[in-house]
Amino acid sequence: MKILVTAGPTREHLDPVRFLSNRSTGKMGFAVAAAAAAAGHDAVLIAGPVSLPSPEGVRRVDVVSARDMLAAVEDELPEADVLVMTAAVADWRPKTTSAQKLKKGAMAPVIELEPNPDILRTVASLKGGRVFVGFAAETGDPVPEAARKLAAKGLDMVVANDVSSPDSGFAVDTNRVTFVFPNGHRTYLPLLSKAEVAARIVAAVEDIAAHGRENTP
Ligand code: PMT
Repeated sequence: MKILVTAGPTREHLDPVRFLSNRSTGKMGFAVAAAAAAAGHDAVLIAGPVSLPSPEGVRRVDVVSARDMLAAVEDELPEADVLVMTAAVADWRPKTTSAQKLKKGAMAPVIELEPNPDILRTVASLKGGRVFVGFAAETGDPVPEAARKLAAKGLDMVVANDVSSPDSGFAVDTNRVTFVFPNGHRTYLPLLSKAEVAARIVAAVEDIAAHGRENTP
């Protein structure tokens, strides 16, 4: 299968040197792309600005902003069988971006924001028979919000990600996740390396592709 994975944060620039972003390092998404390639799939990684080397056997497309990431997903999706959105996409961007570095005196104390496109919602009409997997990063129990996002975005699986403890979520090598499926089934995983979580995600995707979203274990 051709498996398209997004990873890392997006950056929403105010000017050439200042931006809004988040703590995502790309570790989780890079691990999913590496696991997909290791399982023999054609893996394409759309990466926000991160400082990780490309995994072996993976084709990488670098992007900066949420709108760049959306354009890259729209470009690659027609040929893909699977989309796994691990990226922490910025929901908002500054209303105006300056081509020149803003002088301190020219900056207002309040930054006006406007919403970014939701990538999963925007490409929902292109889903067809493809498998779409989202993530939900939450503090507190992530499962209820993951189930809400699964339904709202019409996904086949959501990886509910507990980001409230220091060994799970952003910028660490381990993660604690629960797979949430449309048939109500949940797979609770213990704390695992991101490489192991990634291998489980690829196996779940293979299962959904083979047996359908309603027949997941
Ligand atoms: O990169 P690491 O440091 O390894 O950290 C990994 C991680 C914590 C970033 C990752 O495991 C994770 O949880 N990613 C999801 C981050 C998130 O905040 O998701 P969300 O709840 O804002 O969004 C839900 C889903 O919609 C996600 O699949 C997201 O990619 C997608 N989305 C969000 C916003 C947007 N504008 N478009 C989207 O498609």
